[in-house]
Amino acid sequence: MNWKSTVALLAGLAALGQAETSRRPNIVFILTDDQDWHMHSLDYMPLLQKYVINEGTLYDNHYCTVSVCCPSRVNLWTGRAAHSTNVTDLFPPYGGYPKFVREGLNEDWFPVWMQNAGYNTYYTGKLFNSHSIDNYNDPYVKGFNGSDFLLDPYTYEYYNAYMTRNGAPPVSYAGKYSVDVVAEKAYGFLDEATLHEEPFFLGIAPVACHSNVKFTPPLTFDTAFYAERHAHLFKDYKIPRVANFNPDVPSGTDWVRKLPQLNDTVIEYHDEFQRSRLRSLQAVDEMVEELIHKLEAKGILDNTYIFYTTDNGYHISQHRLSPGKECPYEEDVHIPLVVRGPGIPAGHTAGVISSHTDLSPTMLKIAGSKGSEKVELDGFPIPLTKEELASPESGEHVNIEFWGHALPEGKYGKIGDDPLPHFPGTDFKDLEISVRNNTYKTARVIGKGYNLMYTVWCSGDKEFYDLERDPHEMSNLLHKDHAHLQSSYQLAGRSFKRVLSRIDALLMVLKSCYGKECHEPWNTLHGSSKVKNLRQALDSEYDAFYDDQPRVSFSSCEMGYLKAAEGPQHVNKWDDEKHGVAPVNVDGKQQSFQYTGPIEWWT
Ligand SMILES: *[C@@H]1O[C@H](CO)[C@@H](O)[C@H](O)[C@H]1NC(C)=O
Ligand SMILES: *[C@@H]1O[C@H](CO)[C@@H](O)[C@H](O)[C@H]1NC(C)=O
Ligand SMILES: *[C@@H]1O[C@H](CO)[C@@H](O)[C@H](O)[C@H]1NC(C)=O
Ligand SMILES: *[C@@H]1O[C@H](CO)[C@@H](O)[C@H](O)[C@H]1NC(C)=O
Repeated sequence: MNWKSTVALLAGLAALGQAETSRRPNIVFILTDDQDWHMHSLDYMPLLQKYVINEGTLYDNHYCTVSVCCPSRVNLWTGRAAHSTNVTDLFPPYGGYPKFVREGLNEDWFPVWMQNAGYNTYYTGKLFNSHSIDNYNDPYVKGFNGSDFLLDPYTYEYYNAYMTRNGAPPVSYAGKYSVDVVAEKAYGFLDEATLHEEPFFLGIAPVACHSNVKFTPPLTFDTAFYAERHAHLFKDYKIPRVANFNPDVPSGTDWVRKLPQLNDTVIEYHDEFQRSRLRSLQAVDEMVEELIHKLEAKGILDNTYIFYTTDNGYHISQHRLSPGKECPYEEDVHIPLVVRGPGIPAGHTAGVISSHTDLSPTMLKIAGSKGSEKVELDGFPIPLTKEELASPESGEHVNIEFWGHALPEGKYGKIGDDPLPHFPGTDFKDLEISVRNNTYKTARVIGKGYNLMYTVWCSGDKEFYDLERDPHEMSNLLHKDHAHLQSSYQLAGRSFKRVLSRIDALLMVLKSCYGKECHEPWNTLHGSSKVKNLRQALDSEYDAFYDDQPRVSFSSCEMGYLKAAEGPQHVNKWDDEKHGVAPVNVDGKQQSFQYTGPIEWWT
């Protein structure tokens, strides 16, 4: 070797070394469907445990902000609250892929921002609802260098998938197990991604462990279908018999309280329903191991973040509910999130509260991307490193919202033979079995020494649970059966009435917050003053200020985000000079609002 080639070789090696160290990390994002935290589904995924949970950080206070697929996924992939995107349902007019397109979001969302940041982007599996064999090219989904989407109305048929690859006409995978098909596509995209120099994002969204749904009449919401190789598993599994499991006393909001207690036949069916879900997740578990092996073989495992989460949670028998989601209770909104990757502590449990709104901002930060040029995102990056986790900048609240129906699944969910009249595009209006008035706003607040849930329903019903004392949300302090508990209630030395006035005002801000406000809602109430959390807001100095706030309320139950039905929109703002004596509206106008909702709970 002469000196020239030696120098060239050394220069080449140096460049390679530099490229290796400066190459931005890849992101693999696995998004399951309807996976629960509270029935311990993660405990039944040994490979996820081994490769991701033990090697990464478990975010044990992670929430979806809308507990149903499409709005939740739009929230996740835009970093914006559902009330910001106005994609609030599964179907048009209020939701689904057509609404996502109509709101201009297809032009301005996560994969587009990642491409702008120099990432190659890939996605396979389910994207949104009402993304169908009819509209997949109208227009095609923007932002992916490679994509292969499951399409409606077959998305939830585990053995009858239709998929479109990069906009080509849908291909049938009849007879093949959908979760395995999606895994194969993911491996293919991984190979494709690693042909290029740029870092990549790969989204993988298998349909497990959603119910097997046949939309073609007669409509059926069956148990999840699993691969034959997993049929023998979990024969002894039972849903945890905790306090809210098919309780002897009714619980929940008005329509939930009316549900009859479930008999043994139904309970047995429900246990098997959950076993089927766990079995369907085994194909995902196997995929996790295969992905890890492939990343390792390619030498990029250490420079790749792996996110594992789901769109929303799931309940089966809790509060006597049939299988399903769409509720504000912990089973539906508190969901798994695990992250492994560069700088993320292994075998760690995070403790911080976070939501799906935060995940796009988190990945944009990893990618060094500025995100959207047009809109401010409502989320905030979650702490990833040991240092960030030690002093998290994240808040103590999550804003949860819902519009429309609750839909019982499974054979006792009474969907039975009711045909869906016009799919896609239906709004379930002919389905009496669905609960129409399921529109609500929820605040979850988890801080030092408190853990609260507060919900205001379009029906006028309200719920308040202290989960430190009542982790299964059985004693709604705002229901007459439990109201006697109010008088002895204390939090940080303050009475129930005082706590309630603060949390209602917090929800007032969160239900229509935008951008930074969603992260720092107390600033909207207190301006530059020192109040940054619930505990500080509880100071008696502010009692009159909070007594005078407008309250969260609805004038009617609507199936979508119709502002006119959603009561007052603005809070009074603390005025440091006047000490809140003459509250000023955030718009600078005096409040003209009169509280018209039920008041007996309040005074
Ligand atoms: C991926 O798509 C972006 C945006 O169209 C493009 O700039 C980039 O070159 C593509 N990457 C590859 C490897 O084709
Ligand atoms: C149990 O409840 C289901 C659903 O209401 C009903 O169809 C069934 O007949 C009941 N079984 C018994 C044994 O009562
Ligand atoms: C649902 O809400 C609508 C509009 O507020 C109301 O007219 C209707 O009575 C409600 N239905 C039930 C079953 O509560
Ligand atoms: C949300 O979308 C619906 C359906 O297009 C529309 O009627 C409603 O006014 C929108 N809400 C807001 C707040 O813009």
